[in-house]
Amino acid sequence: MNNYIEKLSPVSAVIGTQWGDEGKGKLVDILSAQYDIIVRAAGGANAGHTIYVPDPKDSEKTTKFVFHLVPSGVMHAGKVVVLGNGMVISLSSLMEELDTLKKSNIDLTGKILISDRAHIVFDYHKKIDGIEENRKGDKKVGTTLRGMGPAYQDKIARRGVRVGELLEFDKFAEHTRTTFISLQRLYNELKHDIDKELDDIRKMLGVIRPFIADTSLYLYNKIEQGKTILIEGANGTHLDIDHGTYPFVTSSNPTSGGLYTGTGIGANKIKSIVGIMKAYTTRVGAGPFPTEIFDELGETIRQKGGEYGATTGRPRRCGWFDAVVGKYAVRINGLTSINLTKIDVLDDLEKLKICIGYKYKGNIIESMPASIGAYKDLEPQYIEMDGWMQDTSKAETYNELPENARKYIEKIEELVRCPIQFIGVGVRRDQIIVK
Ligand code: GDP
Ligand code: IMO
Ligand code: MG
Repeated sequence: MNNYIEKLSPVSAVIGTQWGDEGKGKLVDILSAQYDIIVRAAGGANAGHTIYVPDPKDSEKTTKFVFHLVPSGVMHAGKVVVLGNGMVISLSSLMEELDTLKKSNIDLTGKILISDRAHIVFDYHKKIDGIEENRKGDKKVGTTLRGMGPAYQDKIARRGVRVGELLEFDKFAEHTRTTFISLQRLYNELKHDIDKELDDIRKMLGVIRPFIADTSLYLYNKIEQGKTILIEGANGTHLDIDHGTYPFVTSSNPTSGGLYTGTGIGANKIKSIVGIMKAYTTRVGAGPFPTEIFDELGETIRQKGGEYGATTGRPRRCGWFDAVVGKYAVRINGLTSINLTKIDVLDDLEKLKICIGYKYKGNIIESMPASIGAYKDLEPQYIEMDGWMQDTSKAETYNELPENARKYIEKIEELVRCPIQFIGVGVRRDQIIVK
């Protein structure tokens, strides 16, 4: 059996390198078997992390779970999961997720902590998300409508309501009402029964209150005691509010900077940052996507890869692997290794393309432009490689992969300049190759 802690480090992180949905949940689920504590750092219920848990009697039979707020490590017994301070948390969505887990006999009582500094997503934030999208008309971001933007907006505007405030409910309710009134001034279309929402939250208190903690301090003490911690990134590098394809991004920092601010763990403690990189590219929602495939090949990849949003069910846009996108993620995040996922999805393709640069105004550029206006004039420059036309889903070691698959993987490694340490060949826990 692989010793992942030795291959990585006692405090490690997994983050998305493209536009989300790279397969973060699967690696987190696998690694969590060996880590003590699993922490989410940023984002909220916009994330949809899918894992397939094997039937104890037959590992080829699996049950699918999709997590939005709860860290994906929760399926292993004896773990503690933490919702970090960088997150924005809808309490009603959290309750729903806890109920679903309970139905599968997973009770998180005593095993989940929520940062007292995390911000609360109220149902009015979800409505404002819709109002903002409508106001943008044809410039819509295509958000998940989970209230991310509006909740982070309140946080930055210093009127947000934090989880720790729930400990004194009357003051919490007063603060929430004040914030809500100022939002009503900004959004006169907003129709919302704030009394009902506060009443609903009051009813959840019995469940939520025991979870509230100073999680940065908790994690610090656990590191001192020699416990191991895995941080589960959400969303993806190119959805980052600073480094992504702004304004077609989410409202937080899914890049490595967000790991430190979003957990309160010191940067010097996180020694391994694994970037999850799909062997091709996908994106849900609007915004630039230089290597998007518009013909039936895009649909073929979508079908074979099951490329439908885990949160919203929307079809994901599909395209070729973009090494510019990948190299940018290696640089911005300081990745220490990569998990290349979904190689098996490319098994039937005769030829594969990899984008190695963009032609822009007669020059070749090798990084992502800051200006959204530039993307329409980018011409991706491709190299073509031979496909392998063989089933990779049963390969257990690197050498069992077809030669052309290895060439494809090694080309990506060379182009993005980071070692590929894990290769995904299917949805199951055992369908991963450690290189
Ligand atoms: P996340 O948001 O990054 O956790 O990814 P999602 O769960 O939204 O989407 C990734 C999808 O790809 C999920 O359905 C996974 O089960 C699936 N997946 C992950 N790794 C592999 C792989 O190596 N091969 C195949 N075929 N599917 C994979
Ligand atoms: P995981 O963790 C894919 C996208 C949305 C939209 C933009 C802004 O599953 O990889 P938001 O609701 O965050 O304001 O939407 O970001 N987006 C994601 N796309 N996977 C995700 O998370 C995403 N989280 C946000 O589709 O384009
Ligand atoms: Mg997802």
